[in-house]
Amino acid sequence: MIFIRYKRVTSTNDKARVLAEGGAREWTVVVSEVQTQGRGRSGKRWQSRKGGLWFSVILRPRISPGNVSMLQFFASNATRKAIVEETGLETETKWPNDVIFETRKIAGILVESKSQGTQLSFIIVGIGLNVNQRKSTLPVGATSIYATSRERHNVEQLMTRIVENMKSDYALLETPDEILNQWWTDCIHRSKIVEIQTTSGFRNGISKGIDTDGSLLIEQNGRTEHIMEGTLTVWKEQDPPRSDIRAES
Ligand code: BTN
Repeated sequence: MIFIRYKRVTSTNDKARVLAEGGAREWTVVVSEVQTQGRGRSGKRWQSRKGGLWFSVILRPRISPGNVSMLQFFASNATRKAIVEETGLETETKWPNDVIFETRKIAGILVESKSQGTQLSFIIVGIGLNVNQRKSTLPVGATSIYATSRERHNVEQLMTRIVENMKSDYALLETPDEILNQWWTDCIHRSKIVEIQTTSGFRNGISKGIDTDGSLLIEQNGRTEHIMEGTLTVWKEQDPPRSDIRAES
């Protein structure tokens, strides 16, 4: 592993991309104390103040471009494992790229890649983990390790642990089912009624699993639908679903 450290960058994913284009080796890691233009999924802004862990890993796995989405589940598993190993906090997953602690987002993954034809050139796995920020400084719906446990943690140690976990499970990229099983086991919307806001409107149904292309499988009236993108909300017990769907017990 090669770590490249900055105090302030626009986005560690941007820095990592430039390095990858220039031929940087696999497992080169770019980390910064602050990001001025941290990004999340779908072009959303990712607040990246001092106290959090913001880093990107350059990978060159031998997988086809069609399987790139597997990296977000893979990185999510490695992150959750590191959080429990370092802090004892048990987190959960939420499609497509969230790590959740008690309904609030504690970490997010942004995977970007470059391919030429059917050949994958590189993947950048960007990971943002809220570590030592106070609750009052966090966006609505987010939490941090400190806000949750009142304990401060070493961001470098957490990062090293995440990258080590990714390294030791790297061969699993050849068996996507194993990665998805790990991810699905601790998913907050397993067999729950969910609503997904997509660019083409709302979809709802019972959340049934994840396909190897990264899409969410939802079932409604006996029909299974693949959802490729969107923002998911789990129906609360007291909310009646908008259509006639019942979750399995
Ligand atoms: C999301 O939940 O939408 C993904 C958030 C990913 C944030 C990380 S922080 C390090 C890397 N650099 C970025 O600009 N984004 C990712």
